[in-house]
Amino acid sequence: MLTINDLTLRYEGVGGARPVLALDRVSLSLASGEFIVIIGPSGCGKTSLLEVIGGFREATSGQLILDGEPVHGPHPDIGVVFQEDSTFPWLTTEQNIEFSLKHRGVPEHERASRVAAMIELIGMRGFEKHRPSQLSGGMRQRVALGRALAPKPKLLLMDEPFGALDEQSRLTLGDELLRIWRATACTIIFITHSLSEAAMLADRVVVLQPRPGRIRDIVENPTSPRDRTSEAIGTRTFTEMTARLWGMLKCDPAVPLTASP
Ligand SMILES: Nc1ncnc2c1ncn2[C@@H]1O[C@H](COP(=O)(O)OP(=O)(O)O)[C@@H](O)[C@H]1O
Ligand SMILES: [Mg+2]
Repeated sequence: MLTINDLTLRYEGVGGARPVLALDRVSLSLASGEFIVIIGPSGCGKTSLLEVIGGFREATSGQLILDGEPVHGPHPDIGVVFQEDSTFPWLTTEQNIEFSLKHRGVPEHERASRVAAMIELIGMRGFEKHRPSQLSGGMRQRVALGRALAPKPKLLLMDEPFGALDEQSRLTLGDELLRIWRATACTIIFITHSLSEAAMLADRVVVLQPRPGRIRDIVENPTSPRDRTSEAIGTRTFTEMTARLWGMLKCDPAVPLTASP
C-alpha cells in the first residue's frame, strides 16, 4: 500500500556546519495491514524518515506512493503519534479525539458516536472528561493514539510513542496496540529503540544504519501475529529474535556529535 522509492534526505549545514545525508536511497514496500518496526542507533535517520513519510519534511529526492498515488505533504490517510506528549492540555480526552475529526471536516452529528467508539477502543472509558494533566503518561499516549486513529487513517506513523514510559506501561501499551491494530487493520510504521518492543510488535523489523542513513537489514518476525503478546517475551523465538537484532545493532554505535556525513 505504501512504496518508498529511493528516498534521499540531505540536511544542508547551517552556519558552517557540514551537510548531513540523513537518508540515502531508502526503498521499502509495505503491504496493507503490515506492522513495520524501525530500529537503529541514535542519529541514523529514523525520525527523518517518518517526518518525510508524514509530509512534515520534503525529501531531497525519491518518491512516496500511497495506494498508487504520489504523496506530497501531509495526507488525510496518514496519522501520526510522537514520542513527546502531543495531546492538547486545555482539551479533555473526548475533545482531544474530536479535534482531529473536526479538523477533517467530519460533520457534528457523526462526531459524538465516533469519539465514543474510539474511547472504547483505546480503553479510556471513565476518563472522557479528564484533561491530560489529570492522566498518567501512558494514558496521555492512549489519547494521542485515539486522536490519530479517529479519522481512520490507512497508515499510522509512531515515533517512539512509548519511549518515555516505564517498562511495565510499555508492555501493556504494546499489547493494547496489537489489539487495536488487529481491530482496525491499519498499516503501522513504529519507531523504537527497544529491541523487545520490536520483537513483540513487528511483522518485519527494518534495521537502519547511520552515516549515511540506509537500510542495513530487514528481519521477518517468526511469531505469527495472533501469538504476539507481552506473554511471548519468555519464549525462545522471542529471545532469539532480540539477540539477532542486537547482533546487527551493536556493530553500529550511535552517531557521535562530531560525525561527518
Ligand atoms: N533539522 C535538522 N537539521 C540538520 N540535521 C539534522 C536535523 N534533524 C536531524 N538531523 C541530523 O540527521 C541525522 C538523523 O537524525 P534523526 O532522523 O533525528 O535520527 P534518529 O531519529 O534515528 O535518532 C542526525 O545526524 C541528525 O543530527
Ligand atoms: Mg528520533
